[in-house]
Amino acid sequence: MYVVSSILLFAIALIGQQAAQALPAESNRHLHKIFRYPTGTSTRSGSYIVELHAEHDARAVKAASAKARSILKRSVGQFSIGHHYDSVLKGFAVHANEDLDPEHLARLPGVRRVWPVRRHNIVDSRPVAHTSIYSGQHRHTGVERVMRELGLDGRGVKIGIVDSGVDYTHPELGGCWKTPGCPWQNGKDFIGDLHVEGDANPIIKPNPTPMDCYGHGTHVAGIIAARGPRVTGIAPNATLGMYRVIDCQNGSSDDIILAGIEAAYKDGNDIISLSIGQQGWSEDPVSVLCENIVKRGVVVVVSASNSGYSGLFTSASPAVANGVISVASIDNWEYTGTQIEVDGKLGNQTITASVPSNDKLRFFFEKPVPLVLGVTAKGSANGCSAFDRSFKDKVVVIGSGKCTVNEKAINAQAAGAIGVVLVIPEVQALSAGKTNSTVRIPVIAVDTSHQQYLIDSVTKGPATIAAPKRELVIVEDPAGGQVSGLSSNGPTPELAIGPVVSAPGANIYSTYLVANGGYDTKSGTSMAAPYITGVAALLKQAHPDYTPAQIRSTLATTAKPLRDPKTHLNIHPYQSGSGLVDAYAAITTRAQLFPSSVILNNTDIGTLTSIPNVHIPGSVRWARRTITIQNSDARRPVRVSLTHSAADSLTAWHANGTLAPPVRVWPAESSIIGDKNKLPQVFSVDSQISSSIGPRQHRKIDVIIVAPYGLKESERWFYGGFLNFELTWGGSGDDVQTYVVPYAGFNGDFSKLDVLAEPTSGFPQIVDTDLKTHDDLTTFGAAANNTLTLEYRLDLPSRLVAVTLLDRRNTTVGYLPDGYIEYATRNMQDEGSKLNEVEISGTVYTDHKLSKKIQVPSGLYRAQIKALRPFGDVNKASDYQTWVSQIFSIA
Ligand SMILES: *[C@@H]1O[C@H](CO)[C@@H](O)[C@H](O)[C@H]1NC(C)=O
Ligand SMILES: *[C@@H]1O[C@H](CO)[C@@H](O)[C@H](O)[C@H]1NC(C)=O
Ligand SMILES: *[C@@H]1O[C@H](CO)[C@@H](O)[C@H](O)[C@H]1NC(C)=O
Ligand SMILES: *[C@@H]1O[C@H](CO)[C@@H](O)[C@H](O)[C@H]1NC(C)=O
Ligand SMILES: *[C@@H]1O[C@H](CO)[C@@H](O)[C@H](O)[C@H]1NC(C)=O
Ligand SMILES: *[C@@H]1O[C@H](CO)[C@@H](O)[C@H](O)[C@H]1NC(C)=O
Ligand SMILES: *[C@@H]1O[C@H](CO)[C@@H](O)[C@H](O)[C@H]1NC(C)=O
Ligand SMILES: *[C@@H]1O[C@H](CO)[C@@H](O)[C@H](O)[C@H]1NC(C)=O
Repeated sequence: MYVVSSILLFAIALIGQQAAQALPAESNRHLHKIFRYPTGTSTRSGSYIVELHAEHDARAVKAASAKARSILKRSVGQFSIGHHYDSVLKGFAVHANEDLDPEHLARLPGVRRVWPVRRHNIVDSRPVAHTSIYSGQHRHTGVERVMRELGLDGRGVKIGIVDSGVDYTHPELGGCWKTPGCPWQNGKDFIGDLHVEGDANPIIKPNPTPMDCYGHGTHVAGIIAARGPRVTGIAPNATLGMYRVIDCQNGSSDDIILAGIEAAYKDGNDIISLSIGQQGWSEDPVSVLCENIVKRGVVVVVSASNSGYSGLFTSASPAVANGVISVASIDNWEYTGTQIEVDGKLGNQTITASVPSNDKLRFFFEKPVPLVLGVTAKGSANGCSAFDRSFKDKVVVIGSGKCTVNEKAINAQAAGAIGVVLVIPEVQALSAGKTNSTVRIPVIAVDTSHQQYLIDSVTKGPATIAAPKRELVIVEDPAGGQVSGLSSNGPTPELAIGPVVSAPGANIYSTYLVANGGYDTKSGTSMAAPYITGVAALLKQAHPDYTPAQIRSTLATTAKPLRDPKTHLNIHPYQSGSGLVDAYAAITTRAQLFPSSVILNNTDIGTLTSIPNVHIPGSVRWARRTITIQNSDARRPVRVSLTHSAADSLTAWHANGTLAPPVRVWPAESSIIGDKNKLPQVFSVDSQISSSIGPRQHRKIDVIIVAPYGLKESERWFYGGFLNFELTWGGSGDDVQTYVVPYAGFNGDFSKLDVLAEPTSGFPQIVDTDLKTHDDLTTFGAAANNTLTLEYRLDLPSRLVAVTLLDRRNTTVGYLPDGYIEYATRNMQDEGSKLNEVEISGTVYTDHKLSKKIQVPSGLYRAQIKALRPFGDVNKASDYQTWVSQIFSIA
C-alpha cells in the first residue's frame, strides 16, 4: 500500500507540474478545438458537429465526411454520420455512443472545431386561454396604416420559418401544401414526431411534410401570414417556407436546427424567422451560422428569449449573433378576460380575471354564489394536496404552489367546488395554462394585487362571487405598450445592445392546430419575432434592393422609444432596443442612418474642456462617435436637428453587491431626476449640423456622449439613451421624420469587473453530499462514502473558466471534472441554471481537454477557480479573477 502510493505521488508531482504549465492563463495560445459547454447544458452524449475550415466546398465536405467515416471505423465502434452542412457553415454531424472521444474528431483533417450537440427547446410561448378575435396591436405598430394606405401584403417576398412545423390545412394559412398558388412553396421536415431524448443514436424519421403537432409554428405562421377572417397576418401574400426542427414534444437539437436554418438559406428565402434560443455567446454554432447568412444577404429575425425575469445578460443565442434582428416583446394593449364581482364584509369589487380554464368551461355565475378560501385543516391554501373538507356548491380561492393548475382544480373538484379562483403572480396570471378534460369546473386567475382583498373578504365573514357576463370582455391592460417582463434583456456578453427592436408579443391571438380549435392566444418573444418578420417582409416588398443591414437599421432607426410611466425617461435600449416598431415610418423612410446603435463599451475617461457654455467636472467618461445620415430623397435637401433623451440606467446588482433579478432601475421614482449629473448627456460637435444635406447626399455628424458622473461607479450602472435626429425636407415645415439611434455603455471599467458572485452571496462554496458546508474539511473530506461538490456562480458571462485542484504547495495537480469551460453564460437565479458544480472526489484531468484522467493520492488539497474577466485575454494571468478554497482532505 505504502509503496504504491509513493510511486503514485511521484507520478503526480510530475504530472502536476506539466498541468500547471498547460493552464490556460499561462500558456494556452488558443481556445481549445473541442468546445465545452458549461455544466448543466443539456447535450446529446456522443453527438458532435464537426466544423470544417471555411474553404471546403460541397464536394470537399462530402469527401471529408467519407474520410472521417473510414478513420472512425477503425477507432470507434458504432457511429453514424448525420447532417452535412455545405453552404454557409461547413461540416457534418457525427452520432456515436457516449464514449466516443471527441479527440478522434478533432484530429480529423481539415477540422476547425468540434461542437457537442446540445438539445434545444424552442423559446417557449406561454398559453393564454381565451379565443376572442383581437388584432388591435396593428393600430399601434403602423401595420394597419400600411395595409390601408400602402396596400402592401408581402407579395414576392420569400419567408422561411424554422419552427415546429405548420398545420397547413388551416384555411387561414392557405389550406394547401406546395400546390400551385399555395403560400407554402418551400420547406421540409427535419425531425419527425418523436425525437427520443437521451438516445445515443436517435432515429430521426422525418415526415413527408412539416405538419405541426406542437402548435408553436402554426401560431408563429399566422402572425406572419394568416389571411383572415379571424387572424390578420402582416404579410398574407408572402411566399412561405416551413422548416420543421421541433418535434411534437418541444424537443430538438443543434444538428437539426442547423440543418433547418441552412435549408431555409439554400431555398433562397429573403427573410428567415427564428423563435428559438438557448443561453449562449455569438460564437456558438447556431449564432455563427446566422451571422454568416446575414453576411450573404438574408435577413434573420430572432426572438430575444423569455428570461427577462432573470435580469441582464439574458438574450439567448442566436439572438446575440452579429447582424441578426433580435426582437423584444411588448405587452398587447388589451386582452380579453372575465369580469367577476366579489362581495363581502369589505364591500364589493369588480375584478377582471384571465381565463386559464378550458374554453368550454365558462366561468359564468349569473347570481352570487358562496366564495370561500380553499384551505386544508393544516392551513395550506395552495390546493396542492387533497382537501379534508367539503366545498360543495362553493367557489374556492386557491393561492400559488408548486403543482399544476390541473392538480389544484382536480382537488377542488373532488371537494365539491363548482369553480376556482387562482391567485397567482402577474408572471403566471395570464399563462396558467388550460385545464385538461379531467377538470369539469371552471377556473380563472387573478394576479396577486387582489390577494389581500380576496383573502380578507373570505376570512372576515361570508362572501359571494358572481360572474354575470357570459361573454369575455376586452380589457385595457395597464401594462400595455410596455416591455413584457419575460422579455430577455441585453447586453450580449461583450456589451452589444441586446434586442434591436420591440414588437407585440404578449397576449397574441393567432392560428393554432385545427384539431385543437384552430386558434389560440399566446405570449412570448416567440410571438414578437414573427411580427418583425412580417414587417420586414413589407419593407422588403417596398424596397427590394435593401440589404439586411439596411432593413435592420431602417426598422431600428424608425422605431419609437418606449417611456417608463413612472420616471418618464425612456426605457433602456438593453430592454427594448430602439423601441416599438413603426411599420409605416420604416416603409416611408427617406433617410438611412448608420450605425443604428452606438456601443460605448467602457467609454474613455478624460477631461472635457471643448464644449462651450457647458460646465463639466474635470474627469468624466465620455466618447466621441460618428453617425452617418444618408438623404435618400432624389430631389429635396434635408435639414437635421439633434436632440437627446436619456433612458433609465440599469444594473444587475443590488446596492450591497449581490445580484438583483430582475434588473434594478435608476431612478426608482421620477421625483429624483432633477439631478442632471445622474443622467448621460449628449453634445453635437458638428457646427454644420444645421446646414442641409443635398438630395442623395450623406453627412457625418459627430456627437459627444458623456456618461453620468453623479452615479456611483461601485454600483455598476449601465446607462443609455437615444439620439433623436429630426429631419425636415424641403422648405415646408411639416415634412418631418424623426429617427433614433440608441446608445448604451457601462459606467465604469467593465473589463475589471468580477465575474464570480460576491462572497456575500455564499458562493463559491464546498458542500457535502447532503449539500451542507463545513468549517473544517480537513477531517471530514472527500472519501469513498462522500463526494464534495464545489458550487460556484457566475454573475457575468466568462469566456473561459478553469477549476483546478491544488496540492499543499498550491501547485496545480489537474483540472477537476467539468473544470474547463469556454463561453460560459451567466448563472440565472430563478431558473434551472442557478449554479455551476464541480465534483471533488480525487479524480482530476491533467489536460484542459479533460481527456487524461488520474486519481490523486490521499492528502490535503485546495480547489481554485480562474474565471476570465470581460474582454480578457486568455493568455494574461492578470485578466482572470482567481478564487482559492479552504483546505480539504481527499481520502
Ligand atoms: C418546452 O421547453 C422549455 C425549455 O425546456 C420548457 O420551459 C417548456 O415548459 C417546454 N414546453 C412544453 C409545452 O413542454
Ligand atoms: C393577395 O394578392 C391578390 C392579388 O394578386 C389579392 O387579390 C389578394 O387580396 C391578396 N391577399 C391578401 C390577403 O392581401
Ligand atoms: C357594489 O357596491 C356599489 C357601491 O357601494 C353598489 O352601487 C353596487 O350595487 C354594489 N354591487 C353589488 C353587486 O352588490
Ligand atoms: C389531467 O391532469 C391531471 C393532473 O396533472 C392528471 O392526473 C390527469 O391524468 C390529466 N387528465 C387527462 C385526461 O390527461
Ligand atoms: C470594448 O473594450 C474592450 C477593452 O476594454 C475591447 O477589447 C473591446 O473590443 C471593446 N468593444 C467594442 C465593441 O468596442
Ligand atoms: C442585499 O440587498 C438586497 C436588497 O435590498 C437584499 O434582498 C439582500 O438580502 C441583501 N443581501 C445581503 C447579503 O445583504
Ligand atoms: C464515511 O466513512 C468514515 C469512516 O468509514 C466515517 O467516519 C464518516 O462519518 C463517513 N461519512 C459519511 C458522510 O457517512
Ligand atoms: C495557498 O493559497 C492560499 C490562498 O491564496 C493561501 O492562503 C495559502 O497560504 C497558500 N499556501 C501556500 C503553501 O502557499
